Amino acid sequence: VTSVAVSRKRVVLVGVGGHARCVLRALAARLDVEVVCGVDPAIAAGSSRHGLPIVGDDNRLPELRADGIEFFAMGIGGIGDNTSRRESFLRAVRSGLKPLRLVDPTAIVADDTQLADGVFVAPGAVVCPGTSIGANSIVNTRAVIEHDCMIGEHAHVASGAVLCGGVRVLTGAHIGAGAVVRQYLEIGENALVGVGAVVVTDISTGVCVAGNPARQLVSSKK
Ligand SMILES: CC(C)(COP(=O)(O)OP(=O)(O)OC[C@H]1O[C@@H](n2cnc3c(N)ncnc32)[C@H](O)[C@@H]1OP(=O)(O)O)[C@@H](O)C(=O)NCCC(=O)NCCS
Repeated sequence: VTSVAVSRKRVVLVGVGGHARCVLRALAARLDVEVVCGVDPAIAAGSSRHGLPIVGDDNRLPELRADGIEFFAMGIGGIGDNTSRRESFLRAVRSGLKPLRLVDPTAIVADDTQLADGVFVAPGAVVCPGTSIGANSIVNTRAVIEHDCMIGEHAHVASGAVLCGGVRVLTGAHIGAGAVVRQYLEIGENALVGVGAVVVTDISTGVCVAGNPARQLVSSKK
């Protein structure tokens, strides 16, 4: 019997809340990866979460890199505002860590899809041919990205959302759970599409829309 020693990529998980559980599932399917610890400002250092030791917050990242951890995975999800997820991602990159690209084994991703560093494609998601997905973006559980879409960096297509063909989702935009975006439309930078919306027009930068047909939402909180 011949045994072969395989050195696995050592990974720190950035953000260890609810979304991180889905990310950990995709990580567990990767035989080339060992998740060593997690950082999360909302969890006490020295405790454990989802079976991972929590070693502190993002400020620990340079030290972890110096200790020989080379990679990170993003465990931060988001319900609308992708700013803190973007900041944590950039801080990890500045610390010299490399982002892992993660595709859950149950997702279906066309062979020609361009996936940037740090992309997470969640269980049951479908990504059709001709699509590109930018760094640190999430295609969440059972979302459908039809042919020829472009998703920018730090964006989030939430669970069950559908982008019809040729849709462009620009940097930092959020497409709410179950929303549908008609073909060849553009969702502007940091725009927010509410859960269940039906989008039939382009959406401008930073605007929050909801409903069917989706209209700008005027909310005291926005
Ligand atoms: C659109 C959204 C951002 C609005 O949140 P908010 O600013 O806190 O708004 P509020 O809950 O205060 O609601 C403001 C008004 O908009 C309505 N509204 C809120 N979300 C709506 C939606 N998705 N569709 C239709 N109407 C909506 C509310 O009923 C309320 O109406 P009223 O003023 O007549 O009572 C939020 O509802 C949403 O959909 N977030 C996305 C969450 C998501 O995608 N989660 C998945 C993570 S995987």
